[in-house]
Amino acid sequence: MKNLIIKNAAELVTCRGNRAKKGREMSELHVIPDGTVVIEDGIITAVGNSQEICAYLDESNYEVIDASGKAVLPGFVDSHTHLVFGGYRAEEFSWRLRGDSYMEIMQRGGGIINTVKATRQASKAELLASAKKRLDSMVSFGVTTVEGKSGYGLDDETEIKQLEVMQQLNEEHPVDVVSTFLGAHAVPNEYKGREDEFIDFLIDKVLPVVSERKLAEFCDVFCEQNVFSVEQSRRLLRKAQEFGLGVKLHADEIVQLGGAELAAELGAVSADHLLQASDAGIKALAEAGVVATLLPGTAFSLKAPYARGRFMIDQGCAVALATDMNPGSCFTESIPLIFALAVLYMNLSIEEAVTAFTINGAAAVGRADKIGSLDVGKYGDVVILEFPSYKYIPYHIGVSTVEKVIKRGVLVFD
Ligand code: NIG
Ligand code: FE
Repeated sequence: MKNLIIKNAAELVTCRGNRAKKGREMSELHVIPDGTVVIEDGIITAVGNSQEICAYLDESNYEVIDASGKAVLPGFVDSHTHLVFGGYRAEEFSWRLRGDSYMEIMQRGGGIINTVKATRQASKAELLASAKKRLDSMVSFGVTTVEGKSGYGLDDETEIKQLEVMQQLNEEHPVDVVSTFLGAHAVPNEYKGREDEFIDFLIDKVLPVVSERKLAEFCDVFCEQNVFSVEQSRRLLRKAQEFGLGVKLHADEIVQLGGAELAAELGAVSADHLLQASDAGIKALAEAGVVATLLPGTAFSLKAPYARGRFMIDQGCAVALATDMNPGSCFTESIPLIFALAVLYMNLSIEEAVTAFTINGAAAVGRADKIGSLDVGKYGDVVILEFPSYKYIPYHIGVSTVEKVIKRGVLVFD
């Protein structure tokens, strides 16, 4: 299905634009009633009213999908996940229900380090197979581009293994996988108490390989109390920038440490989590044009206070939403769950949430010029809902309303 017409959509939600939308702009979805989108060789070649477009096209040259009674949107961008990992941590989930906190479990040697052990042991084939299943699940929720992080190796061999798995998935799976190097995700046991030396190791031994082999587009760090300080994070991320990588941060997730301020100072592509971000940090993000990537599934799963999404948008931030899919703090691929949490508990409007999962998600992976909206020249990445309006996405709580998914003009989920 290389040349495709999707016509008669009850709502064609274009999300028009090729950069992150800030503040009030996030409410503008640019919906075309009775809309049609045309895709040729994977690229969008026309967008508009069905009558106008179908009047001049010879439909016999195309596959045609009749989207009568259905809403059509850009493919969703899940811009923050940890999708390649070994093992699971269901036991820790039950400890958290009993009252143990995420950081307590991490302090006593569980948490991320638990997954590191399993990921070091896993073969590449095992990691590929489990991550592929997760990608299949993501597509069923309408995701056409996903960001994935390393960070469960914390040694050169396993970090590279994770990144190679993502590279292979990107080649073999219809979903585009954007790779992020998160070597500074936790302090491995062999470097306990020697955090600065671990940062040196990442800078001297791993970053150069990641950069030379083009294994990642971004570098991320878990900037958090008892993990990596603002100073350590700054040192690593500055080096990453010298190596030509864009930077991201797990910022102000558990404790207010100044991660948002650091993201603004560095001109990061995104600052993520931000549950505890300060007013000044939020203002700085808005001014610096750093995408604030909010992950309400994690707040939900950790029973933590939600990030101040409404306030951030009112302050002029560009907000993106993502799942944070990982085996510890938020084990879900569910886009509709995140939509519902965003509108019910962070007080985003449904329009803002759609923007956050499309064009702003695209901006959070540096691809707002290629994906995230239904505009001529962009990839033909499209989601068709079984319902006539985007408003059904959070309304049908936690259940996917996605009927079909098209990736670069090819039907990949039906
Ligand atoms: O985004 N906070 C740090 N990293 C992940 C969790 C990873 C894990 O627990 O395995 C997060 O919440
Ligand atoms: Fe994360």
